[in-house]
Amino acid sequence: MYPPRTSQLLLALSAILPSSLAAFACNDILTKGQHFNFEKLGGPRVVHWTDSLGTEDMEARWNFTLDVCNKLQRDKGVDKQNWCHDGARVCGVRALHDIYGDENDTISAVDIAGTYTMQNGPNAILDPTFGLLRDLKSNSDAPREGVRVELHGGRHPFDSKKEGVKQRAVIDFVCDREREGDEGAEKDTNEHEEEPKKDEDEKKGENGDKKEEKKLRRRGGEKGKCEDTEASLRFCGYEDEKTDKDDKVKTLRLEWRTKYACEDAPAPDGGKSWGFFTWFIIILFLATAAYLIFGSWLNYNRYGARGWDLLPHGDAIRDIPYMVKDLGRKVVNVVQSPGSRGGYSAV
Ligand SMILES: *[C@@H]1O[C@H](CO)[C@@H](O)[C@H](O)[C@H]1NC(C)=O
Ligand SMILES: *[C@@H]1O[C@H](CO)[C@@H](O)[C@H](O)[C@H]1NC(C)=O
Repeated sequence: MYPPRTSQLLLALSAILPSSLAAFACNDILTKGQHFNFEKLGGPRVVHWTDSLGTEDMEARWNFTLDVCNKLQRDKGVDKQNWCHDGARVCGVRALHDIYGDENDTISAVDIAGTYTMQNGPNAILDPTFGLLRDLKSNSDAPREGVRVELHGGRHPFDSKKEGVKQRAVIDFVCDREREGDEGAEKDTNEHEEEPKKDEDEKKGENGDKKEEKKLRRRGGEKGKCEDTEASLRFCGYEDEKTDKDDKVKTLRLEWRTKYACEDAPAPDGGKSWGFFTWFIIILFLATAAYLIFGSWLNYNRYGARGWDLLPHGDAIRDIPYMVKDLGRKVVNVVQSPGSRGGYSAV
C-alpha cells in the first residue's frame, strides 16, 4: 500500500471546508461576470405591511424579516409556533388584528424562503437565483442598475407538503450611490427590541399608528409599486404570482436601495478577494505537511526506512536542489545569450 496521493488528501480536506461555495454567500454574488458583496446588508431586517383584507373590522399586520447573510434566529420571548422553522432566511409573521375588538391578535408564521434541513427533503432549499436588473425584460421603467435575487424553499402551511402554497422572495437590490442600505432600518430594529410589549402599550400610540396604517394601506393598493418610504429596504408586494414552472407561488417582493448593488461598488473591505487565496495556500501547506508526515510514518513502520528514505518520494525530493540549480543555469543562459551574442550591447 502506498501513502495517499496529495490529490486525495486535498479532496478529503476540501470536504471539511466551509461549504459556502455551494450555498448562498452574501459576500460573493456572481452573475454574468458581475460581482456583488452584500456582507454589509447582513443581519435581520424587518419590513411591515398592513393588509386591509378588504374588510372594515379586520386587518392583517405583517412583519417580514429577512437576513441575506444568515439564517434567522428567533427573538427572545417569541413563541416557537409564532416564528418560522429553523433554517428560514425570510420569514413572514402575520397578526390578524380585530380593529374594534379587544381580542388578542391571531399570530401565524409563514416560511417564505430558507434551507430547511429537517423534515422536508430536497425541495425545501433556498436555491437562490440571480439576474442583473438591466437584463430583466419585464421592467417597463427606466433600466435600473443592480441585481435581482430570488430565494426559495418556503411553503405555507409548512408541514403539509401537498397543500402548502409555495412561497418565494424576490429582492431587487438597486444601485443607489448615496445609500449604505440601512437607512430607515436602524430605528426600526431598536424599537423591536426595546418595546416587545407594544401590544399592551398600543392605546397610547393608537392615533399615530392608525394614521400610518391608513397611509400604508393606500400605498398597498397601487399594484406593482413599492411602499413610499425613505427607508432603503421597502416592501413592494406579497401576492400570488404565476411562474413558468409552478401554477402559483406566493411572492414577497422587496426593493433594497444600496450602493453595494452598484456594479462599480468598492469591496466593503478591500482585502476580501484574498480570502479564497489565503485558504488555498493554507490548505496546500497543511496537505503537504500531512502528506509528508503520514508518508514518513508509513515508510518508517512498513519498510523500516530511515533518513532520506523516510520521506515519500525521497529520491525526487533529494533531486530538487539539483533541478533548481539546473533550471537556474538555463535561465541565466537565456538571459545572457542576447548580450553575449553581441546583438545590442556593443558600444
Ligand atoms: C390575551 O393574551 C393574554 C396574555 O397572553 C392572556 O392573558 C389573555 O387571556 C388573552 N385574552 C384572550 C381573550 O384570549
Ligand atoms: C411586528 O413588528 C412590530 C414593530 O416592531 C411589533 O410591535 C409587533 O409585535 C410585530 N408583530 C408580530 C406579529 O410579530
